[in-house]
Amino acid sequence: MPESTESARYESMPNDLEPLWMPFTANRQFKNAPRMLVAAEGMHYTTADNRQILDATSGLWCVNCGHARKEITEAVSAQVGRLEYGPGFQMGHPASFEFAARLAALAPGDLDHVFFTNSGSESADTALKIALAYHNISGNASRTRLIGREKGYHGVGFGGIAVGGIANNRKYFGSAFPGVDHLPHTHSLEHNAFTKGQPEWGGHLADDLERLVALHDASTIAAVIVEPMAGSAGVILPPKGYLKRLREICDTHGILLIFDEVITGFGRLGDSFAAERFGVLPDIMTLAKGLTNAAVPMGAVLVRKHIYDAFMNGPDNAIELFHGYTYSGHPVACAAGHAALDIYLNDGLFERAAELESYWIDAAFSLKDHAHVIDIRAMGLVGAVELEPIEGKPTARAFDAFLKCYERGVLIRTTGDIIALSPPLIVEKNQIDQIFDTIGGVLKEAA
Ligand SMILES: Cc1ncc(COP(=O)(O)O)c(C=O)c1O
Repeated sequence: MPESTESARYESMPNDLEPLWMPFTANRQFKNAPRMLVAAEGMHYTTADNRQILDATSGLWCVNCGHARKEITEAVSAQVGRLEYGPGFQMGHPASFEFAARLAALAPGDLDHVFFTNSGSESADTALKIALAYHNISGNASRTRLIGREKGYHGVGFGGIAVGGIANNRKYFGSAFPGVDHLPHTHSLEHNAFTKGQPEWGGHLADDLERLVALHDASTIAAVIVEPMAGSAGVILPPKGYLKRLREICDTHGILLIFDEVITGFGRLGDSFAAERFGVLPDIMTLAKGLTNAAVPMGAVLVRKHIYDAFMNGPDNAIELFHGYTYSGHPVACAAGHAALDIYLNDGLFERAAELESYWIDAAFSLKDHAHVIDIRAMGLVGAVELEPIEGKPTARAFDAFLKCYERGVLIRTTGDIIALSPPLIVEKNQIDQIFDTIGGVLKEAA
């Protein structure tokens, strides 16, 4: 392809936007006024009209090391040239075993076996299937019920939406999962508005699991899945004691506890994983996003030793788990993952959110007195500014702020009327100031 055609394909505004059905997007609004990104480096995107946009969202909570890291680019291109693909069923390649070993060493406790997927949605579905199969092969085949939580997000597969708790992600898609129940969410403006870090109120909501056990009986429940911090519903931090209590109740009743760490994994909360930050060990952990710094799609499910061991029975030549993806452990994704992990460790990025936490929280709380701000939540390098919805026009206030911030050079994310922020972990203090000054300016004008 001539160079000019190639650069046109990747760097300028396309002639026809119509054929692409964009995910989780207001397609008609976007196509009328497109926001087109053509390049990225460090903390910034470059747009098709050659503007620099400060990324306050790590793409979609995933580019934790910052954009276009040379180490990842080089590792990926070397691997494409060396072994671009190898089947993962009944065959192997070194990078996937090495990467699994490094993840197992990094993960807390005995979360020491790794199943690779290609996304957070696949990780959630894989984790649920492993939980069901584990009970099945352990002589507890009646344990088929899955418990999620209101406002939970576990991707868009059927398993994920069944245990998920966001109405719009569920209501159009039938009701294929009767064997599911939900814990109450922990979001409360009444009790917790403007709390810095973890709220005091709400730990008792974990006890609702006892109610579900009383209703369904423990012998029918396979697993509970929660995000340690609910990200997509708008950064809802776990109340103090909540996760520990869930762990205790699961232990009492032989229920597996799954932490969906697709967002919280890889440094977001000031430690490698939320399980470390909150001192609670799940039985299964799901990962994606920051796993490869999003340079190549990849997800992973980590399980504790006793779960893996339970499957390693029967004849040696029998397949132990009838599950997997063509691209599980893809060599190029593993190369990206190795390079991302090197960056996290060499640059101390897992500690960085903890170092910047108090600066970040103070900056977020500088918006406290702006009109229509009804809550601010922040911890590590993640935060939310919740806005009062305009009557009769839910989501409009936050979406308007999103568009105006983008015009002013800052990419934020909104969910409902909540602005959610999660910058790359390399963010500098002056960039934190820019993020909140820009949002503050936009809110002031709109008031
Ligand atoms: C907690 C959680 N689980 C799962 C997913 C789904 O990940 P993906 O979009 O890679 O399928 C997400 C995505 O935001 C997430 O936040």
